[in-house]
Amino acid sequence: MAKTQKNFPQSVKGMHDILPADQPLWERARRQIKEEAEFYGFSRIDTPLLEQAGLFEATSGASSDLVQKQMYIFRSGNDRLALRVEGTAPAARAYIEHGMSHLPQPVKLYYLGPMFRHEQPQAGRYRQHHQAGFEILGGEPDPVFDAQIILVCCRLMENLKLDGLSIQINSIGCNVCRPIYRRRLSDYYRRREICQDCRRRLTVNPLRLLDCQKAQCQTLKKEAPAVLDSICPACSGHFKMVLEYLDELDLAYFLNQQLVRGLDYYNRTVFEIVIDEPAETAPEVVSGVAPTEEKGGRAGGLSLAGGGRYDYLLKTLGGEPAPGVGAAIGLERIIEVIKNKNISFSAKTRQKVFLIHIGDLAKKKSLSLIELLRRSGLEVTAPLSKESFNAQLRLADKAESRLVLIFGQKEAMSDAIIIRDLKTGTQETVMLKDMVEEIKKRL
Ligand code: HAM
Repeated sequence: MAKTQKNFPQSVKGMHDILPADQPLWERARRQIKEEAEFYGFSRIDTPLLEQAGLFEATSGASSDLVQKQMYIFRSGNDRLALRVEGTAPAARAYIEHGMSHLPQPVKLYYLGPMFRHEQPQAGRYRQHHQAGFEILGGEPDPVFDAQIILVCCRLMENLKLDGLSIQINSIGCNVCRPIYRRRLSDYYRRREICQDCRRRLTVNPLRLLDCQKAQCQTLKKEAPAVLDSICPACSGHFKMVLEYLDELDLAYFLNQQLVRGLDYYNRTVFEIVIDEPAETAPEVVSGVAPTEEKGGRAGGLSLAGGGRYDYLLKTLGGEPAPGVGAAIGLERIIEVIKNKNISFSAKTRQKVFLIHIGDLAKKKSLSLIELLRRSGLEVTAPLSKESFNAQLRLADKAESRLVLIFGQKEAMSDAIIIRDLKTGTQETVMLKDMVEEIKKRL
């Protein structure tokens, strides 16, 4: 929304108000998230907006952009705190802190809330954004859970009427085979002309070279050693099973061997769900160059969700070694796509009643009338303002009310009210004691 009054306080750069006009869409998305989560057996968790900065540093990786550039950090006494940058590490911390390993495994958690990243704001990339996340912690590192995480994200988006989606998937191996791949990648890049950022990445985390979006590094990526040729038989078997489950679920996917994700805690499966978007509105293009195998999906596009397996995360945080897999969906991006595509949801036909008052006595009595209507289960709108009768009638029309209650001086004095049906144009005066019954009859 355009900000016009520059001399007034403005919202923080990259952070946005969610205005009343957008609330129904947000509410629709939140409802769908809850519905999907409950259907697939996830329980809600809410973690604080502040965590010890070390939580993210230990898990996302010291060399990641998230830790290097994007955390909002400040001191409070002896604590170095960070605004929550992502939801997986806090969920894992809570799992350990609250002894959830003693519950039946795996534990399936979901969350919904704001994350804060000090990024360069642009369309679809904000400094405060909201994520809906799904995490499966503990139990066995069964590939069925990787598939279920992907499934829940896909179903959620489908039920929000999003199409043109594709799943980009890859395996980045484990602690046994990944060092071998890293060495192969380093050997390949060391002898080539790469951008300055990639020079740094080469020493700290060569896998990130595959994430580079600079034109100079694009062609090199295409010829870089393929990760799937380097992973060990155990990782390969795991990945094969994940793909088989996706086939079974009829979920189209793309093998994208350049997909490594920007967080260090992942191992084995990593994936993103992308949607085709015009280039100018797509801030984050998945590095989908020449997929090796296509299963009906497409390369490139706006990344709406991302996730993967993180079997070392709980141990890194000091818990018992136990696997995990999860994903998070960016709500701003979803809402923007829904709006850009003019997707509409059939609003539940609400039985709205609009109360118009005329005069001071009617206004005074309106307060208890509104209470009575609401207690009777009716959704009532009443501006209680000084607007003229006609102006209030226009508001009733705008609010798509079915019935208008007209409460004037005469009616207020005789304990009566006029019920006007905006659909049929008919109206009738009824006694206040019969009002609720008469309204319900007409609805
Ligand atoms: P992520 O890919 O960093 O993963 O974020 C997940 C989603 O949040 C992205 O796909 C995107 O839709 C949205 N998103 C991220 N950054 C921004 C931003 N600056 N502005 C708007 N939307 C954004 C994670 O955060 C992992 N914790 C996901 C995960 C859960 N992995 C395992 N479990």
